[in-house]
Amino acid sequence: KSVVILISGAGSNMQSIVSAALREDWAGRHGARIAAVISNRPDAAGLAWAREQGIAAEAVDHRAFARREDFDTALAEAIDRHAPTLLVLAGFMRILGSAFVAHYAGRMVNIHPSLLPAFTGLDTHKRALEAGCTVHGVTVHRVTADLDLGPILGQAVVPVLPGDTPELLAARVLAQEHRLYPRVLAGLLSGEIS
Ligand code: GRF
Repeated sequence: KSVVILISGAGSNMQSIVSAALREDWAGRHGARIAAVISNRPDAAGLAWAREQGIAAEAVDHRAFARREDFDTALAEAIDRHAPTLLVLAGFMRILGSAFVAHYAGRMVNIHPSLLPAFTGLDTHKRALEAGCTVHGVTVHRVTADLDLGPILGQAVVPVLPGDTPELLAARVLAQEHRLYPRVLAGLLSGEIS
């Protein structure tokens, strides 16, 4: 099984996944390998980190394409060179078109920093604070044509604390992302989650 991870920035979720794959021997136990890390940003720090781990890492710069669908097509070509059984969006900050989503139907997952279906879209921590939430969290879900609303595969909850700022809340959520995503992906690769 081949896993391709898409990132846009630091790639801390990608790093957590790569580390778990090594620590838990996903190759030996699930016959799975992290085949490539691909970013829409050539300056994504996660690309250099992945290369240092010996993982193929490349950028498909969305700024090089006048039309969104041309970017999506070029991205899919780069991804398909690794024939992924699982395509993992990890802090990937582009909305992908319906043709792209259809091409990877059933094998694409995403992580979203809220307890979906609450707070789809951006600025989830600020919105949760403004709404007066006392709990918040993160969701791993299958990607479908409904943005941020595909079938839920796993969630983790964090408390909202007095005096929380969006930054403090984001950090608390991110720590849970780093635990949840590898656990859900291992479950998908082992067949425990279907
Ligand atoms: C974070 O806001 C995280 O909640 C979301 O994407 C952003 C960056 O994550 N999943 P990463 O450090 O690039 O994995």
